[in-house]
Amino acid sequence: MSDFRRAEDALDAATSVPHASAGDPTPPTTDYRLPPTAYWLLATATAQLRAAGVESPRLDAELLLAHVLGVGRPYLLAHGEDVPPASARAAFEALIARRARGEPVAYLTGYRGWYNLMLRVTPAVLVPRPETEGLLERALAWARERGVTRVADVGTGAGALAIALARALPGATVYASDISTEALAVARENAVAAGTPASIVFLQGDLLAPLPGRVDLIVANLPYLGEDEYAGLPRDVRCYEPRQALVGGPQGHELLARLLALAPDHLQEGGAIMAELGPRQAPAAATAARAAFPAAGIRLECDYARLLRYLIVST
Ligand SMILES: C[S@@+](CC[C@H](N)C(=O)[O-])C[C@H]1O[C@@H](n2cnc3c(N)ncnc32)[C@H](O)[C@@H]1O
Repeated sequence: MSDFRRAEDALDAATSVPHASAGDPTPPTTDYRLPPTAYWLLATATAQLRAAGVESPRLDAELLLAHVLGVGRPYLLAHGEDVPPASARAAFEALIARRARGEPVAYLTGYRGWYNLMLRVTPAVLVPRPETEGLLERALAWARERGVTRVADVGTGAGALAIALARALPGATVYASDISTEALAVARENAVAAGTPASIVFLQGDLLAPLPGRVDLIVANLPYLGEDEYAGLPRDVRCYEPRQALVGGPQGHELLARLLALAPDHLQEGGAIMAELGPRQAPAAATAARAAFPAAGIRLECDYARLLRYLIVST
């Protein structure tokens, strides 16, 4: 509440009408506009985003205002009564209008925080999701225990998994592949920014085809939605994120099933595959894993929302 008190005080001051003195012909002027402080801009934008059906209107408004001002969100808390320059206000209002139409915050700012990385994102890549951190943690736990030397991140997108693996596993070579050359360009840029370009080999092509040899660990967050799930996605995802990064086939599991069928020719003995999937795809993916690796340990694990999210194949 205190955020708004100053603006309310300002409104009182602006609308208080001085006593007219007898014989004064000039009517009092009244300015009803609130001063466009950071708090005021945030309150107005939050209301606009809420009315447009945006799920986290205040957070999104704060992220966008912090972005145009070139500050962190905590700065806004400490400087809410500052009046941003008119140019920043115009830029902010333009971004809020785009957000109200559904454009994801990460594409508007160009960045997304994920795990311990700040990743550049463009509409060529899926915005990395928190569930994928669960895949990374499982892969890291496995890799640290065994001391892997070669890891593949298949369908790397913005490079989140590959870069986090390369940073955490010094000495390992990470192959980051994607079918999309545009996505690989973003991943490369992120690898340079994260200081890991030397330990990541970027490869363009279909699934495991571009790998130069066998690897110890394959991690994959491939597209896994079915066509009907895609059609039911919220506008923010369906209209803005690449379809190629979302749909895994008519039922969704087909692309991962194809990777699993190819994997025996690309995995070292004793190696593992860890993949993210949707709960609906889990049974078909486990069946495909069993067909490809009849003697392997095959587990499905849940994410923090208790939804089946990870397939782990230990050969
Ligand atoms: C769900 S996104 C995941 C991106 C990233 N791994 C992440 O977790 O944020 C899937 C990625 O797989 C790529 N992809 C789709 N089909 C592919 C294929 N046949 N071979 C390799 N990559 C593919 C897409 O271009 C996209 O970047």
